[in-house]
Amino acid sequence: MLSSLRISARRAAAAAPSAGNKLHKGVVASSSAGSSGSIIEQTACRAFATVPGPRLFDYDTVTSVLKQSDAVEAVEAAFGMLAKGKVDVPIPMHIGIDESEKAGPGDCHIKGGYISGTSTWTVKLANVSFYKNVEKGLPAGSGIFVVCDATNGAPLAIFQENRFLTDLRTGAAGAVSVKHFAARHHKKVGFVGAGVIAAAMARGSKCVHEFDEGFAYGLDVVKTKEWADEIEAELGYKVVELDWLRPHATIIASGSDQPTKNEIPAEVQKASKMVCDLVRQCEQVGELRSAIKAGVMTRDDVYAEIGDVVNGDKPGRTGEELILVDLTGTGAQDAAIGQVAWDILSKH
Ligand SMILES: NC(=O)c1ccc[n+]([C@@H]2O[C@H](COP(=O)([O-])OP(=O)(O)OC[C@H]3O[C@@H](n4cnc5c(N)ncnc54)[C@H](O)[C@@H]3O)[C@@H](O)[C@H]2O)c1
Repeated sequence: MLSSLRISARRAAAAAPSAGNKLHKGVVASSSAGSSGSIIEQTACRAFATVPGPRLFDYDTVTSVLKQSDAVEAVEAAFGMLAKGKVDVPIPMHIGIDESEKAGPGDCHIKGGYISGTSTWTVKLANVSFYKNVEKGLPAGSGIFVVCDATNGAPLAIFQENRFLTDLRTGAAGAVSVKHFAARHHKKVGFVGAGVIAAAMARGSKCVHEFDEGFAYGLDVVKTKEWADEIEAELGYKVVELDWLRPHATIIASGSDQPTKNEIPAEVQKASKMVCDLVRQCEQVGELRSAIKAGVMTRDDVYAEIGDVVNGDKPGRTGEELILVDLTGTGAQDAAIGQVAWDILSKH
């Protein structure tokens, strides 16, 4: 049975160039009559697919055209839709890649989503932690976004973005958090970890709030100083280093996106007004996971999802309370940035 299916598929594909219209019409007729089309007809439907192939956008194009500010509004709206239950966002998929003498261990993260009413949906592949690449002069991570047409199901574009779009949508989630949870009079911002995401957070924050002083804490003093100098030159506020971060009224935690990670002590989580990007994801891979595991919180202790605040269903900051925003990175953000990337880059 299996082998005859294979043979049919090959024959149909081989016959395609000379018998296109006839077979195509046959398939349309049979599909409207139900699922009674023959195997050859169904296979021919694939062989004669007429949707255009996806456009390929390389890394240089993606990174030279898109900016942090392009992402903020779309990601804010995506959070709003997420809280209304209007985003189809599956829990992320993870594929672990073996470690060998020369490669791995690697992680492949697959996230995606569809925001109701938009013209596209997005699936992204983020391949990370290939640390042995560095010895070969290659980055440890790479990635693509596939953006598909929600009207006909065809893949519209493949963006070779190597985490750049993820950086933009994560920086945008930071911006949305600052907008709704930092008090207007808060003028100091701190960064724990002076890496790529911290820079995206700094750029995102600049779109919604004027900080005048920043604090950066990193493991490597020289690199942290370089990071602080760059941010100071680019964003115009002074960034100094701290030997330890002082308590701050709004903590935006985006480091924990795997069940192995935790940056915020459970007691700090318990003491804060806690906001999640997506509770069902945070309890599996976010900071919340470790507070639940420590037995100091349950999911019912979470104050709100960020979209509830974006939608005005719950207030954001109401006074000088400690607020913790647990950002694990949702498929809703990926869908939003995928749509933005398509809207902007398809015109190029
Ligand atoms: N939630 C999300 O949506 C999301 C999105 C992307 C990345 N991430 C996660 O965010 C984290 C940072 O990603 P990145 O791309 O900025 O990485 P990066 O390697 O560019 O930067 C990490 C920084 O953290 C510092 N650091 C490491 N351990 C530290 C410690 N104990 N104390 C203080 N600083 C420390 C390093 O010195 C470095 O400056 C990763 O865990 C990544 O998986 C989350």
